[in-house]
Amino acid sequence: MIPNIKPPEVVQSIKWVDDHIRIIDQTYLPNREFFLDIFEVGRVWEAIRSMRVRGAPAIGIAAAYGVYLGVKDLPEDGIQQFNTDVERICEYLATSRPTAVNLTWALAKAVKTAQDLRDEPVSRIKTALLDLAKSIHEEDKRICADIGKNGQELIPESASILTHCNTGSLATGQYGTALSMIYHAHLGKKKIQVWVDETRPLMQGSRLTAWELEKTGVPHRLITDSMAAWVMKEKGVDLVVVGTDRVARNGDTANKIGTYALAILAKHHGIPFYVAAPISSIDFSIASGSEIPIEERDAAEVRNVESKQMAPKDTPVYNPAFDVTPNELITAFITEKGIIRPDFSKNLEKIRPRQD
Ligand code: MRU
Repeated sequence: MIPNIKPPEVVQSIKWVDDHIRIIDQTYLPNREFFLDIFEVGRVWEAIRSMRVRGAPAIGIAAAYGVYLGVKDLPEDGIQQFNTDVERICEYLATSRPTAVNLTWALAKAVKTAQDLRDEPVSRIKTALLDLAKSIHEEDKRICADIGKNGQELIPESASILTHCNTGSLATGQYGTALSMIYHAHLGKKKIQVWVDETRPLMQGSRLTAWELEKTGVPHRLITDSMAAWVMKEKGVDLVVVGTDRVARNGDTANKIGTYALAILAKHHGIPFYVAAPISSIDFSIASGSEIPIEERDAAEVRNVESKQMAPKDTPVYNPAFDVTPNELITAFITEKGIIRPDFSKNLEKIRPRQD
């Protein structure tokens, strides 16, 4: 066990600055580090929808700040109207992206905060909503560090690790989930090497993960998604580790499209398949993955690479942003409370937060 290594700070995906949030606009990476100042809730919605800020924990954090930005200038003379407005703003933010449960988890906390304080002055509730966003943000940094510390134990010396999408500092408050495990193993001098799936169609692997790993000095090689099977067979992969957007009570796991295929490949090659998941990504209200809403995105993301058209202009497209990996393909979940192995229905229940 490596005690309290401080993983490298690549960048803070979100910062609270005086009276607004500043995000690194991930749509410009890796070519440009462009920081966007956001002062109002409509811009937060747009930033989440357009994936300027992305990754399940990061969109939960952004939404929590978004609630405060939405209420801060509301009139302070009627509590009933104010709380109706809080609910309306939360419902609105929840429409930005449907799959990551961290978004609705953070918004539910905001609604509860406002309801619990309904006997207090509105100005006090506004402050409490800002404090809530800051505490979700700070807590996520601690959770990601704990996931990294717990998960690095599963990474052998000189391991070859395959990962998908981006699960690092950009996707969270800091450090990441699957990437936090990788950072902790690297800092523990395990001489690891990471295979980075490019992650079509939006290239979170090549644009964001390769960028983070380069900045932090973690040895890595980029592959296209279709190379994963061959890499497993020819080069040897010791483990696959991914993040998640929503885990059902039975362990079925939604993550970036392509994750399910990787899990099947891992099983075929006898490779452990791990999911790094903060407890806020577990949706205890749903029994299985069939209840997870899967976001479908614009056809242009598949027809084009950036602005270059790569298919006939009207080619019909199917563009699900996520898939669901069935629980039987998952070796273990790595959470801030430790490593959870099957039987997932029984063992995830043991880490269910009491207030759920
Ligand atoms: O569409 P994205 O880029 O927001 O999808 C992100 C993922 O699928 C990540 O793997 C997941 O959110 C976990 S991030 C710690």
